[in-house]
This record gives sequence, C-alpha cells and structure tokens, in this order.
Amino acid sequence: MPDLLLLNGPNLGILGRRRPELYGHETLADIERMVGAELAPYGLGLRSVQRDGEGELVGAIQDSYGTVGAVVNPGALMIAGWSLRDALENYPRPWIEVHLSNVWAREGFRHQSVTAPLARGVVAGLGAFGYRLAARAVAELLAADAGGAPGRAVK
Ligand code: DQA
Repeated sequence: MPDLLLLNGPNLGILGRRRPELYGHETLADIERMVGAELAPYGLGLRSVQRDGEGELVGAIQDSYGTVGAVVNPGALMIAGWSLRDALENYPRPWIEVHLSNVWAREGFRHQSVTAPLARGVVAGLGAFGYRLAARAVAELLAADAGGAPGRAVK
C-alpha cells in the first residue's frame, strides 16, 4: 500500500499536553488515527514521523522519497529551518504545510514561513481537523494528477 508521509517537527510530540487552549486536546496518536482514517478510502497508508531535531527531520524526508505525498507541520522550524526547507525542496512529491494554530493571528515572528512557499497549499488555524483536510487534499491531488476522478482510490 502506498504511504503518505506525516511529518511533525519540534514540540509536536507532546500535543495534548502543550498549550491545549491553543493547540487542542488531541495527541499526536489521535491525529495519526484521524489521518489514517481519512486516507483509507483512497487506498493510502500512513508513515508518521515526529522529531524534535532538524537534522533528523531532514533524514526522514530523504528516506521518504518513496512516499506518495506529505503533510508537514514544521513547528517553529517554519521560522528559520533552512535545512528543512532545502530537504523539502528536494522531496519529489506534493506536500501540504499544516499549522494547528492560526500563525498570522499570533506573534509577528510566526508570520513568515521559509517552508510554506514550497508547499502545494497551507492549512492553518483549524486544529487537528487541519491535518485531516491536508491529508485529503494530498490524496485528491494525487487522484487528479493520475487522471482519476476526485474521491477515487489512488492507483
Ligand atoms: C505550529 C505553529 C508554530 O509557530 C509553533 O512554533 C509550533 C506549532 C502550529 O501547529 O500551530 O510549534 O506549527
């Protein structure tokens, strides 16, 4: 089964215990379950990687060129994660950037992302639901790129 890469950066492994009023009560395991359920009708599986270190995230991307697309929350590496940015630039499949919070409604240093200009799209401010939407968007993009009707399984 082809896999979608779910990549989460620093401090996202403690979701549920990290400022829940801002990031929600769902844990990363909850999000993985939600995303997995979203992908199943498309015949897609999930490879989920969360790392706090930028180098490890870069390695995970380099090891995931065989995945069909990605959903990426770079966390604070959105601000100045140049190595992560370059790794994503070389990732050969479509990917979507997700932020649980609306970064543009927050501190000014969160208003610019070095990674977002490379993404096919960005979802921000919708909490865990944003991951579901992003996963579904990648699956639909793949189906459309393959010439299939939206909603059909990706071959
Ligand atoms: C975040 C937003 C970032 O600015 C922050 O550093 C995070 C989480 C989000 O999902 O809202 O770690 O990416």
